[in-house]
Amino acid sequence: MSAQSFNFAGQHILSVNQFNRDAIEYIFHIANQMRPYAQRQKRTEVLRGAILGNLFFEPSTRTRVSFGTAFNLLGGEVRETVGMSNSALAKGESLYDTARVLSGYSDIIAMRHPQAGSVAEFSGGSRVPVINGGDGANEHPTQALLDLYTIEKECKSHGSTIDGLHIAMIGDLKYGRTVHSLCKLLSLYNNIHFTLISPTELAMPESILSAITNGGHKLTITDQLSGSVDADICYQTRIQEERFTSQDEADKFRGKFRLDQAIYTKHFQSKTVIMHPLPRDSRAEANELDNDLNQHPNLAIFRQTDNGVLVRMALFALTLGVENIMQQHEKPVLWQTPKSTL
Ligand code: NCD
Repeated sequence: MSAQSFNFAGQHILSVNQFNRDAIEYIFHIANQMRPYAQRQKRTEVLRGAILGNLFFEPSTRTRVSFGTAFNLLGGEVRETVGMSNSALAKGESLYDTARVLSGYSDIIAMRHPQAGSVAEFSGGSRVPVINGGDGANEHPTQALLDLYTIEKECKSHGSTIDGLHIAMIGDLKYGRTVHSLCKLLSLYNNIHFTLISPTELAMPESILSAITNGGHKLTITDQLSGSVDADICYQTRIQEERFTSQDEADKFRGKFRLDQAIYTKHFQSKTVIMHPLPRDSRAEANELDNDLNQHPNLAIFRQTDNGVLVRMALFALTLGVENIMQQHEKPVLWQTPKSTL
């Protein structure tokens, strides 16, 4: 398999619009090779001496830490800036200047920022590759790739493929950047059925609907979870309260779409895989994905988070051009490894 269809080395990763199916397949091929490193069966120091600038100007747990972990697992060092108020952006510095400066201190940068388009603007001043870790309500390309990687694995374990998939997306489809990026990626495949379930005020943006219909896919839009949904995947999302202009709006939609064992059994099939980009809002008044599903074999949320490390490792290896020399820099693992569930 070759990367001829997509030249990753030195590239920014800003939007899923950059990828075609061949590029995705190649990223997943490299991600599969990362599993033994992530499981600590062996280790590589291929990025020894390299520095990741991990810039998170919005709250994050798994995206920030999995970017850092992925870089560490390839032997590199991580330098973090967390929170707008801790950076010179709070003193009025432009994204361009911050990028010029910080790219002098790093070999690659991962960045999250509350404004749509901000990461692309930042990349214009960067001398090193920039990976978008979420820009406002716009896009979250690495999450979409790890979601798609998970979907492919789940389909395989059920004897099916991404082509022909029926996915139900539930919740805040207006502000949820993960579903925007995921819809665009899935639209590259064949014969997908999208069932979009959200309050009309939080419906999927027109630009994403166009990507779906232009790809010739089937689209069902509704504001209620009703009847039987013959979906392979149920992708639940969090109401993105931080993007709302008023608290009233947040109060109106909080807890509107809940998923627990009883609701799942009533509306979905025994085969339906449950996904969520996380964090799930577990406060009683929201409780969008109940703990009573935690032991359900179809709950893929922690397979998603584990897969996130593999996909981010692959993206680092590809953008820094080391995907073919990882084995040459392997070292033994000297400590006892816990049993992995990856
Ligand atoms: C998502 C995000 O930040 O867009 N989280 C994540 O990165 N896994 C989803 C969310 O915050 O609801």
